[in-house]
Amino acid sequence: MKFYLDTGNVEEIKRIVKLGLVDGVTTNPSLIAKEGRIFKDVIKEICSIVSGPVSAEVISLDVAGMLKEAHEIAQWAPNVVIKLPMTEAGLEATQQLYKEGIKTNVTLIFSVAQGLLAAKAGATYISPFVGRLDDIGVDGMALVRNLRQVLDQYGLASEIIAASIRHIGHFEQAALAGAHIATIPGSLLPVLWKHPLTDNGIDRFLKDWEKVPK
Ligand code: E4P
Repeated sequence: MKFYLDTGNVEEIKRIVKLGLVDGVTTNPSLIAKEGRIFKDVIKEICSIVSGPVSAEVISLDVAGMLKEAHEIAQWAPNVVIKLPMTEAGLEATQQLYKEGIKTNVTLIFSVAQGLLAAKAGATYISPFVGRLDDIGVDGMALVRNLRQVLDQYGLASEIIAASIRHIGHFEQAALAGAHIATIPGSLLPVLWKHPLTDNGIDRFLKDWEKVPK
């Protein structure tokens, strides 16, 4: 499973890139708003730090507006991916961009039907929002599992980005459910790599090392 960072924070990306963990980045308007910077500047900077795909979301709701934004964003960097909402207009824009060879990420996927339509429209990536489904009492990870089954069954090329990942269980289950990618907030990383038995083991080794004749 590939690992994307779900953030618009350049310093966070720079720090985590050093660990060799960042296969790509996803952003959304809410994450960009937190940075208080110009959208284009943020995306261009992220694209220069990360060699993998970087999703930048359009805000238009009509096809013409989406395509206008997409064509502009696509000029910013070779690794930029156009993120589009899962709507009728989003599907039409996805199909058009597919024909033009521009990569897309269809976001806000909450059902197998939505994911299947986005994949058929030519989405490079589809993003089921696991945490937001869990929030309303629906099993978000079941959606990831079912989408993987459907994509494989019909030989559809889209890759699943498990999104709205909130805790370590989501991360681990996304890998088991067959997500091609999990996109996670940087704040979750220490939770992934830390374990109390690891810390305890280091303490014990260091204490024992003191007994070794020097
Ligand atoms: C993914 O592309 C989205 O940016 C993100 O995962 C949304 O997560 P949230 O539900 O925590 O806002």
